[in-house]
Amino acid sequence: MTQLYIGLMSGTSMDAADAALVDFSADIPKLIATHRTPLSSELRAALLALCAPGPNEIERMAQLDTQLGELFAVTALALLKKAGVKPGEVQAIGSHGQTVRHQPGGPYPFSLQIGNPALIAQLTGIATAADFRRADIAAGGQGAPLAPAFHNAVLRSAQQDRAVVNIGGMANITVLPKDTQQSVTGFDTGPGNVFLDAWAERHLGQRMDEDGLFAAGGKINEDLLSEFLQDNYFSLAPPKSTGREHFNSAWLDAALKNHGDVSAQDVQATLCELTAASITDAVKKYAPTTQELLVCGGGTHNTHLIQRLRARLHPCTVESTEKYGVSPGWMEAMAFAWLAKQTLEGKPGNLPSVTGAKRAVVLGTICPR
Ligand SMILES: Nc1ncnc2c1ncn2[C@@H]1O[C@H](COP(=O)(O)OP(=O)(O)O)[C@@H](O)[C@H]1O
Ligand SMILES: [Mg+2]
Repeated sequence: MTQLYIGLMSGTSMDAADAALVDFSADIPKLIATHRTPLSSELRAALLALCAPGPNEIERMAQLDTQLGELFAVTALALLKKAGVKPGEVQAIGSHGQTVRHQPGGPYPFSLQIGNPALIAQLTGIATAADFRRADIAAGGQGAPLAPAFHNAVLRSAQQDRAVVNIGGMANITVLPKDTQQSVTGFDTGPGNVFLDAWAERHLGQRMDEDGLFAAGGKINEDLLSEFLQDNYFSLAPPKSTGREHFNSAWLDAALKNHGDVSAQDVQATLCELTAASITDAVKKYAPTTQELLVCGGGTHNTHLIQRLRARLHPCTVESTEKYGVSPGWMEAMAFAWLAKQTLEGKPGNLPSVTGAKRAVVLGTICPR
């Protein structure tokens, strides 16, 4: 008997809605099919605008909540068509939603994801679990990162100390000690692709620096790099999580103010190094015994970034999660399929040692079909 779940994900990069159909009937989750709907420039711009305070936010947010709910549903239906699977065969959908504001540290902590799950359930005919971050925040946690519990479930080894780093818009690390007596830890290391995309858009008119070619042709500016790395977030002790509230174009422009003489290509090289350096620092400080770093997320395809990580982390090896059968581009979507399964089965989805929550809790709200 199959145990089919769909995971829906759209991360801080706001590049696409990702859908993964996963079968959990065997010990190792099996990725059955995938489908990706790129976000249009208009939708992306509207979502980006919502990430910072502005006029008429409630109406704009509510409309985008509906628009995204439809987009996620259409993506899930296209996925099912591709796989030749009927909605009735799927146990549930786990939908992350699109984060538009993440403030786990304020006097009234919250993390807000949109993409109406009730609409997803109605349009697909599949029960949909969503709003996974709220319960963890209610239990005193950061609400993030949530993928570490899934990394633990699929990539932990008894033979070697591993760490997993997901390089999306932001980057997050999961530390997986081989000793099962030791707890799994993890946190957001800081920016992943977010500045690489923003700078490529500004100077190349492209959504990304494909394969890191622009960065690879530039020279790292050490002064600028150390200015970037002076940001308090990097020295903050975990648990911690971050997003576009902090690492955004205003942050970048402020850091660049005193470095007007650095060429656009050298800035790209330095931003790429910022991602590599902040991940490396996190490994060295919080996972110094790591023998193998496994990489997932879109940043895995940035050849130059991966080269820089390898150079900085040697002798610790850097490999794609593909090595252990998990497609790096689909890890996050698979994690939300898994989280939906946990929710339906009444099992916890968070790791208090990662998020700082007071206890492990069942995450998510279920919208019945
Ligand atoms: N070939 C590539 N070269 C460089 N960067 C890439 C490539 N493919 C994907 N990316 C990066 O990955 C990002 C998407 O990664 P993803 O894991 O979906 O992040 P998020 O979870 O934030 O949406 C893109 O915005 C881009 O920066
Ligand atoms: Mg994405």
